[in-house]
Amino acid sequence: MSAEVLFYSMRPVMDSIEKPILAVDTQGTIRLCNTTAGKLIRLHKDDVLGLSVTSVFETFHPQTLFRGTHFDLSQEFRIYDRRYSTNWAPIRIEKELVGAFAILQETTEYDCMSSELERVKVMSRELNAIIDSSFDGIYLTDSESRTIRVNKAYERITGIKSHEVVGKTMKELIKSGFYNESATLRVLREKQPVTIVQNISKTNKTIVVTGNPIFDDKGDIFRVVNNVRDVTELNQLQKKLKKMELLQSRYETELQQIREKVDEQKKYVIKSKKMNVVYETALKLANVDSTILIQGESGVGKEVFSEIVHSHGARRKKPFIKISCAAIPENLLDSELFGYEPGSFTGANRKGRAGIFELGHGGTIFLDEIGELPIALQVKLLRVLQQKEITRIGSSKPIKVDNRIMAATNRDLEKMVSKKQFRKDLFFRLNVVPVVIPPLRERKEAISSFIYFFLEKYNRKYGFSKQIATEIIDAFVEYDWPGNVRELENMIERLVVLAQGEILSIDNLPGKLKSSTFSIASPFEGKSLKEAIGDFERKILTAAIEKYQTSRKIAAALGVNQSTIIRKASRHGISMRK
Ligand SMILES: Nc1ncnc2c1ncn2[C@@H]1O[C@H](COP(=O)(O)OP(=O)(O)OP(=O)(O)O)[C@@H](O)[C@H]1O
Ligand SMILES: [Mg+2]
Repeated sequence: MSAEVLFYSMRPVMDSIEKPILAVDTQGTIRLCNTTAGKLIRLHKDDVLGLSVTSVFETFHPQTLFRGTHFDLSQEFRIYDRRYSTNWAPIRIEKELVGAFAILQETTEYDCMSSELERVKVMSRELNAIIDSSFDGIYLTDSESRTIRVNKAYERITGIKSHEVVGKTMKELIKSGFYNESATLRVLREKQPVTIVQNISKTNKTIVVTGNPIFDDKGDIFRVVNNVRDVTELNQLQKKLKKMELLQSRYETELQQIREKVDEQKKYVIKSKKMNVVYETALKLANVDSTILIQGESGVGKEVFSEIVHSHGARRKKPFIKISCAAIPENLLDSELFGYEPGSFTGANRKGRAGIFELGHGGTIFLDEIGELPIALQVKLLRVLQQKEITRIGSSKPIKVDNRIMAATNRDLEKMVSKKQFRKDLFFRLNVVPVVIPPLRERKEAISSFIYFFLEKYNRKYGFSKQIATEIIDAFVEYDWPGNVRELENMIERLVVLAQGEILSIDNLPGKLKSSTFSIASPFEGKSLKEAIGDFERKILTAAIEKYQTSRKIAAALGVNQSTIIRKASRHGISMRK
């Protein structure tokens, strides 16, 4: 029997049944519809035949009914706002599936509700899972700002337990000191999403809270959902970042200083520990405007120091005027410093002239040999320093000046003050920051650097490429350098210019330097090694005694025990102070 015949022959039977009955073929085409079902569909039953089942029932899905070999029994569908449930039964002819038929059953309200309830239960389970697994904190309140629930993440982030807040309104919680501010209250007021930063006093955490209103059908807020994020860590990171930035800028300035120092090292020798300290001091002083008094023996580099300070300071683009108080005749010094008005003295320029304080306005004035400044001018200078104004000779009009003052001397100013050769008040006014440049003999480790530095300088100047024998370095280190760096510089210049040959050797040195070194070439022929060493030792001791005088100092200089020195001296028959 064919399916066609089967469906046809079933019709009279089906029409006699009062329940609505439908049958479809495997394509989903309606093949049978009894009278009751036709009424339900509001079409004549014969018109229903041949329609696709989906054109009649919105939510009916034939493809799920015959899914491969699987047959889906129960389905729900809707006809004109009514819901029906069906239990389909397969129709087979000799095991081959040819279609399905079902009795349509209108689902009652109760059925609807129970299935709705089931849906809600599933949803609520899902929602609970979502809320509790959220990494962000969630805080739910009703329209009165009363706390309904908080999730586990909220408890973790804030340290506040659910039972402490549930059931309480935000106003109450603020009052009892839990929070300083409430996002919920603002959401309820403003009726829109709000983000605030909140402090949790209990755990001293900082959190970011975003409150979102949930509206009911009437458009009123019925819940507020707050999303909570811990920013304590973020803040800490931010602080760390700021610190790093600060550190970076510090490193940058340090790097800049190192670069400048490298450049500076091409201009100057800053090798020894002591000079390093002096150099660092110069950089520090460059940043402030205080008056500096530079002291040190002749030729140690006082002027060099003043140049470093000026060239690193804010005034570096302004004039740097040097004046030697010793080099200018006393009667002219006055006009040099302060300037004069036209016709103020015979021999003066007719137009008048500005003094160095005026010329160096905005810049630095370096007063060299300040110890030589006559007492009368010391008074005037003091006034400039105190009032920051000068009066030209022959004028009564004061002129405002802005200079940084550096003064230098190789005299002992304090002693001069006590002998009343230098004004005490001026001394104190100048001595705001005292700087002492150490003599070269106190930074012997820099001597070889100085030698090569000046050798290069004068080779370049005179177009030579002379070299230096290492024994010269020994001799130079031994020598005391009363004229300090200047003397050393002059010595190298002289050697470069005068010495014959390419290599400057000890023979080129003047006598005073030669005697300070030991000549190993002295005759040791005819002596045993022991005798030769003994001779050498005696020479060393004699030279050391001359230089250091006491056995304690000699021991320190030669790096042996004091007792060793005493023992060796007595063996050689040399006497010395303890
Ligand atoms: N650190 C240095 N590196 C290179 N050259 C230096 C250094 N210090 C000093 N000199 C050189 O030594 C000479 C003397 O230096 P400077 O004129 O600064 O000394 P001073 O203390 O002012 O001497 P004086 O007391 O005689 O005025 C200069 O030619 C200077 O260039
Ligand atoms: Mg000088």
